[in-house]
Amino acid sequence: MAKQFEDKFHRKFYYLRLSITDVCNFKCTYCLPDGYKPAGQKNSSFISLPEIRRVVKAFADCGTTKVRITGGEPSLRKDFSAVIETVANTAGITKVATTTNGYRMAKQVDAWQAAGLTHINVSVDSLDPRLFHQITGENKFHQVMAGIDRALEIGYSQVKVNVVLMKDLNHQSLPTFLNWIKDKPIQLRFIELMQTGEMDTLFERHHVSGVAIRNQLIANGWLLKVRAANDGPAQVFVHPDYQGEIGLIMPYEKGFCETCNRLRVSAKGKLHLCLFGDRGVELRDLLNDDAQEPELIARIQSQLQTKAVSHFLHDGDSGITPHLASIGG
Ligand code: 5AD
Ligand code: SF4
Repeated sequence: MAKQFEDKFHRKFYYLRLSITDVCNFKCTYCLPDGYKPAGQKNSSFISLPEIRRVVKAFADCGTTKVRITGGEPSLRKDFSAVIETVANTAGITKVATTTNGYRMAKQVDAWQAAGLTHINVSVDSLDPRLFHQITGENKFHQVMAGIDRALEIGYSQVKVNVVLMKDLNHQSLPTFLNWIKDKPIQLRFIELMQTGEMDTLFERHHVSGVAIRNQLIANGWLLKVRAANDGPAQVFVHPDYQGEIGLIMPYEKGFCETCNRLRVSAKGKLHLCLFGDRGVELRDLLNDDAQEPELIARIQSQLQTKAVSHFLHDGDSGITPHLASIGG
């Protein structure tokens, strides 16, 4: 193995988040309230299958074991199953995950599984179909739920469900969500709303800390689980009476960045060291030929030395990330 990817703060990177498209067909209020609009240069295509194969191989050769395929909505790519297969066939990659809005899942999850997808995250911001529609702009609640059921039916041992916490919309829904996961192998993850560049007043109106939820969980006998090296940033809680688990993702909490183990590659082939506040480093010129791998690894390694110790969200600085669909949540 080439040298393991590591930064100045001795953080090692086991986890690549690879965006394969910016396009999304939902209009989540906190992400793309006006729907997807193409940005940037015209004619610049999303990263191709051979480019994906090369970039994933370079990461795997430097210690990455887990790849999450994100977007935008990754299943909007017609070659999504081929992307999964390409990632899954890379030596060293043991976990192939995706984050999806779930609208095609009921129909396609069998094919994703056959292609080698091992883990699934779906966004469900409310269990009330009307509120789901209001938040996502799409009346697809039942379709998404059918997708989750199908995934469990065909043998996924757990499905992760993301809920963006929003004051006055869903922050008091913990009992409803708990009831739902009592006898289902679902890890429900409450994500604190993050401020992005294109947000106006939404953040001030709806941001709420996950601390209240954590306190409720602890008071009711939920216990914190130990993290694995390639786990994401969630604090995960378990309870003997529940088959499901609860995760909390609290990026504004002190120390959140200390366990950072992930790097991002955007759908246009740029390396992002952090979700927030970096412009991205071009990798695409080094993805044309397998022989470029040493140079590609050297570029990533040298950029890693510039990775900052923490984001600056606390100071109200959301960097230049306009919305998370642009960089893959
Ligand atoms: N704050 C928190 N979570 C967000 N997501 C998208 N935008 C934001 C934001 N501003 C979440 C989505 C999805 C995942 C990809 O990122 O809900 O679950
Ligand atoms: Fe699409 Fe995900 Fe953004 Fe919602 S959060 S608009 S599903 S990319």
